[in-house]
Amino acid sequence: MKISFIIFLLKTFLISYISAQCFQHPNNILASLENVECIWDSNGKNDLIVPREIPSTTEDMIKIQLNCDSDYVTCEKVLKEFNKAANLISSIFIFNTQIKVNVSYYDLCKVYPANICTNLGGAAYPTQFYLFQDDDGMSRLYPQSLVKQFQFPNTPNYNEFDINAEFNSKGGFWFEDDANAIRPDQGDIYWTICHELMHGLGFYNGWMGYGTNLIGVIPMPISINPDESVTRNNFLSMQSPLVEFMMDRYTILLSNGTQISLYTQQLNTFFNENNTNIFDDSFISSPQFEFAKNLLILASTPNSLGLLPRNSKNFLTDSIILETSLSPFEQGSSLNHVDYKSYINTNDFLMTYKIIDGITTDQMILSNGNYSGGPIGPKLKQIMETFGYTTVDNPNPYRPQPLFKPPPGNLTSEPKANSGYKINIIRNLNILIIIVSLYLRK
Ligand SMILES: *[C@@H]1O[C@H](CO)[C@@H](O)[C@H](O)[C@H]1NC(C)=O
Ligand SMILES: *[C@@H]1O[C@H](CO)[C@@H](O)[C@H](O)[C@H]1NC(C)=O
Ligand SMILES: *[C@@H]1O[C@H](CO)[C@@H](O)[C@H](O)[C@H]1NC(C)=O
Ligand SMILES: *[C@@H]1O[C@H](CO)[C@@H](O)[C@H](O)[C@H]1NC(C)=O
Ligand SMILES: *[C@@H]1O[C@H](CO)[C@@H](O)[C@H](O)[C@H]1NC(C)=O
Repeated sequence: MKISFIIFLLKTFLISYISAQCFQHPNNILASLENVECIWDSNGKNDLIVPREIPSTTEDMIKIQLNCDSDYVTCEKVLKEFNKAANLISSIFIFNTQIKVNVSYYDLCKVYPANICTNLGGAAYPTQFYLFQDDDGMSRLYPQSLVKQFQFPNTPNYNEFDINAEFNSKGGFWFEDDANAIRPDQGDIYWTICHELMHGLGFYNGWMGYGTNLIGVIPMPISINPDESVTRNNFLSMQSPLVEFMMDRYTILLSNGTQISLYTQQLNTFFNENNTNIFDDSFISSPQFEFAKNLLILASTPNSLGLLPRNSKNFLTDSIILETSLSPFEQGSSLNHVDYKSYINTNDFLMTYKIIDGITTDQMILSNGNYSGGPIGPKLKQIMETFGYTTVDNPNPYRPQPLFKPPPGNLTSEPKANSGYKINIIRNLNILIIIVSLYLRK
């Protein structure tokens, strides 16, 4: 009797544990991630490293589906620009599994409030993320478009689309096929499309301002309840309520090479079965909150954070500087773009947080040295390779592990020296043990 009861509970916990790996981004730019059911068979076969299939053709490796509420001619122009961007991206990155993009071109003011829709040309985001374990012991959210490329023998139920893109038909965009030359008040839609698709492929993170008076910056909390607490189930099925994205694995302090993940880890030590509310005063007055305050300073001080590519020898010379010059911190612009001042006049201009009106993408490329990759600059290519995307120069990229097996016992070892990482405390993330022991204590 007792034994079967425990087994039943263990099964329940196991299922919630497995389902805790999938996080859906609802079809709304402003929505936050939701933990969703997803069955990912954990029978251990994922230990096998299968050789990756390389497709014989790059055609159609990114499939655009367009929902467009403008006239036929405009919709054709939109589709053509998206297909041009898709062809460029799939000529640089080698995909083995097709990536599907759900593009909607409509008046964003039909869905979003005026302060947002009147300023926003377009946005794109991964439709679903999966919690993977990185080689430094932390688990992070990986976008579906990349998870598919890993070709694990077992796969979860993928969302139909990998990337959702919403573009504003009132954005005043210039198209290559327009009869007129670009006007000073027009932005080239191709520039925005390429930029947004890179976000959709995973150049993406979730750092957000804390509090109405902006007193700190924190990583993204998963599934906040209306009362601003984090659900107990999520807390139990995740090791921590504040989660990182794959990009954060490589984000460092430019002053001394410390991984930004150290801040996430420290912030997460505040939360336990009694403290699950991220907006509670006791969090603000906790010693851990100092890390959120320091993150705010870092995130709004020029040249303080960067992305360090894999295998780089020197973080001072090899890092890509992130946008930390905006003051006050601007959620969505700060930190998940490259530094505007450093890169807008280089061949890595694409991932700066704003485009320049009145100049076409082709003119930008030409005036910045006519780089062979067009708008996808060398540093951007390098960081996408670091994330795990394949290119001819990077045929065997890094691959993190799905999180349903217990992590290896040696996670607390010193981090790899090559990058100057300074993380000493890496918590063992053996979630099952935590869950079972919590149950047994009841
Ligand atoms: C595609 O995107 C639109 C706009 O966000 C959304 O309404 C629609 O449900 C999406 N389609 C699918 C299949 O997710
Ligand atoms: C790295 O720099 C940060 C910010 O200046 C500082 O708080 C931290 O203690 C430094 N870490 C090390 C290991 O020097
Ligand atoms: C949570 O609160 C209970 C009751 O006050 C206490 O016994 C327990 O040790 C606390 N747990 C933690 C992790 O602080
Ligand atoms: C720019 O580079 C392309 C090839 O990438 C080449 O065809 C074109 O002629 C170059 N343009 C100029 C002005 O150098
Ligand atoms: C952890 O142990 C495994 C197996 O013994 C070994 O292959 C791996 O290199 C170790 N990792 C670290 C970071 O020491």
